[in-house]
Amino acid sequence: MTADDPQQTPGMTADDTKRSPAASRGPSADRPCLTGEQIRALDRAHVVHSWSTQSQISPSVVSGGEGRYFWGPEGRRILDFASLVVNANLGHQHPRVTEAIASQARRLCVTAPAMTDEARARLAALLAEITPGDLTMSFFTNGGADATENAIKLARWYTGRQKIVARYRSYHGATAGAASVTGDPRRWAAEPGVPGVVRMFDPYPYRCPAGHDHPQVYAPGGRETTTGRSTTVSKSAATAFDDDTVALLPARDPGACPVCSGGPHLEEILQYEGPHTVAAVILETVTGTNGVLVPPDGYLASIREVCDRYGILLILDEVMSGFGRTGRWFACEHWDVVPDIMTVAKGITSGYLPLGAVIVSERLADWLQDHEFAGGLTSTGNPLCCAAGIATIEAMREEKVVENAAAMGEVLAAELPRLAAEHPCVGEARGLGLLWALELVKDRTTREPLVPFNAKGEAAGPMRRLFEAALARGLYLMTHFNLVLVAPPLTITRAELDEGLTILDEVLAVGDEALACRARNGRAPFA
Ligand SMILES: Cc1ncc(COP(=O)(O)O)c(C=O)c1O
Repeated sequence: MTADDPQQTPGMTADDTKRSPAASRGPSADRPCLTGEQIRALDRAHVVHSWSTQSQISPSVVSGGEGRYFWGPEGRRILDFASLVVNANLGHQHPRVTEAIASQARRLCVTAPAMTDEARARLAALLAEITPGDLTMSFFTNGGADATENAIKLARWYTGRQKIVARYRSYHGATAGAASVTGDPRRWAAEPGVPGVVRMFDPYPYRCPAGHDHPQVYAPGGRETTTGRSTTVSKSAATAFDDDTVALLPARDPGACPVCSGGPHLEEILQYEGPHTVAAVILETVTGTNGVLVPPDGYLASIREVCDRYGILLILDEVMSGFGRTGRWFACEHWDVVPDIMTVAKGITSGYLPLGAVIVSERLADWLQDHEFAGGLTSTGNPLCCAAGIATIEAMREEKVVENAAAMGEVLAAELPRLAAEHPCVGEARGLGLLWALELVKDRTTREPLVPFNAKGEAAGPMRRLFEAALARGLYLMTHFNLVLVAPPLTITRAELDEGLTILDEVLAVGDEALACRARNGRAPFA
């Protein structure tokens, strides 16, 4: 940090922050004692933020929240259209969860891994109840990444095989094993990673990895649902719309494409790898940050069938898509596919405390009766985290949060394609429930992404400026690559959705304007 650093609190140096009485006194929830500037200065001097070059970031200071809004020290309310990092599913400061944490804290804060307690046992039983099929026993982790780690290890022990098949457009966490099965570029810094990972392509009809030109359907301001679970617009609605360069919703029929239908592509890879060497296939049920790729109907069943044929376990990562996000408790329920192992985190406590779980089916649970589970964590099943998990599930049940996610998801399924139709900078709108993405392009016909894949620095400027334009208008969005994710808390109301969509509309208009400028004089979008 330098004295003229714009982030520096006026009159404070890094050394000062080290000695700052405010720092040593420390803020408390009941008695906040630092100004926004002081917090920023301490953070800048002492906190390392993830996935960032520290001198290039300026983290927002958050001091409070309620419902679908959060705010900073200056009190300006921001509508959260991303549930922070798609974890605050119940929104901010849900009283049922905050009370459960406080009351558990008064009773019992910590147990040892080899002990048990009411919160851990009850949460495990609740997970068995709300997950589909015969998923029945849970190993609790600190979050999603170590859930991935333990799922992979368990699959290897159980099958006696080494290889794991994973997909390119995926994120499974940042620890060594989880990063190794991750496909997106966040993996690169962790390489060479753990051995034995084999990768397959993704069902991504908009940019089909097998080169197919999948038919797209058009959304003239509304939609008709043909399957009840996917965002399909009927062909008759499509014909009423005559702009043939506008491709707004993905087709849900993978046709004969081996990649988009799943099984044939997996089977080809297994042929080269030797199916007897493969322990598991790991997939995000609905891909999250890597594109909100909703599997075409039949995809998961086809992967399941190939796995079963070769004695390979199916691990579904529901860290982001689980806990109501897609309008069902777990996304795999949309296609009636039950994995052998499910990983969850994020929404399990609505993000209020760090917790994840590896949930296993009966055959693995049976196997664990006479085989060692050779993994461990000091904080496995921490009582505070488990109490938060129980309260989250109870609140979701009592307040019909999953039903609300499904109903509000219908609103997004109508409104986002409408916005996409109106804004030339949007190539496609896709999603399920309250997990949606707008894929931004420079040109709808060529589908050239608005920013290059994995763009950094100025190359990513258009997306950063879009994010900032939304924030300046009071809307918090998540952006990744050339995608705008729309994933508000599952408790959102229709009025709040409309508020966010209105701002999104304005921000996309800025994008269109910039595209038009670019066409006229070569300026970058959002410049
Ligand atoms: C699908 C998915 N899996 C795993 C993870 C890793 O979870 P965590 O950050 O809790 O380690 C994430 C995090 O974003 C995720 O989105």
